[in-house]
Amino acid sequence: MSLETRYSQYDTLAFLYSGLESSKVSLMLLEKFILQDIPNESHILDLCCGTGELVQLLLEKGYQVTGLDGSEEMLHYARENAPDAEFILDDSRFFKLPPIFHAVVSANNSLSYVTSLEELISVFHNVYAALQSNGWFAFDLNQEERYETDEPTSTSDFTDDYAMIDCFSYDPEEKIAKSNLVMFRLINGEWQRSNLTFIQKAYFTAEVQSALEKVGFTEISIYDAGRNLGVPQMEGRTVYFCRKL
Ligand SMILES: C[S@@+](CC[C@H](N)C(=O)[O-])C[C@H]1O[C@@H](n2cnc3c(N)ncnc32)[C@H](O)[C@@H]1O
Repeated sequence: MSLETRYSQYDTLAFLYSGLESSKVSLMLLEKFILQDIPNESHILDLCCGTGELVQLLLEKGYQVTGLDGSEEMLHYARENAPDAEFILDDSRFFKLPPIFHAVVSANNSLSYVTSLEELISVFHNVYAALQSNGWFAFDLNQEERYETDEPTSTSDFTDDYAMIDCFSYDPEEKIAKSNLVMFRLINGEWQRSNLTFIQKAYFTAEVQSALEKVGFTEISIYDAGRNLGVPQMEGRTVYFCRKL
């Protein structure tokens, strides 16, 4: 798959990323809602697995785990964090895997980087095709309130070997959040600059539910993580659980 069609934006940020704390929360939700319902040693696909912390936590529980991500650099760290897992470099919108998984999970708002409903439906089709009958699909998405801001904001972060400025804006008409990031990194004594744009989409819960139904998912449960599940770390996020027929 070429770089034009694979989402690789996270390559430049991979050295900074750690999903460990959020992965512990994801594991807690998966244990509560789906893990008790699938056989021990089930095969789980972590879609958009990032640096592999959730993959490792699931491996430690005895599951067989495959991680898939569009960023080669994120997978580089994932292979270090979860050396016993299998990893696939691919894009959630285009991957094709046989129906071998008991569950597919996509944690920490990863699917919001899929910025059109049409493409989100492609992701759902690919997940459906990769699941065994009765297999589970679990994911979470930011609600609009996580993005809303009256005017563009900028934040910065720096250490001795990197400096980063992030200019964030949200378009409520299009429901599109944009982060324009300028990153300077000290590599082999030279400062290197990268300009990056991260775009995320705030989906309505109803459109996500109807897309899942259209693809064939059933037993769809939807929770507001902060209000219904009492998970303060996931305030403003919706969690979806559903099954293949
Ligand atoms: C916010 S990180 C979350 C990583 C991980 N799921 C976690 O819980 O820590 C989003 C991840 O999604 C991946 N990603 C975004 N869009 C993707 C796509 N279309 N295909 C594959 N990976 C994608 C990025 O490369 C990144 O690793």
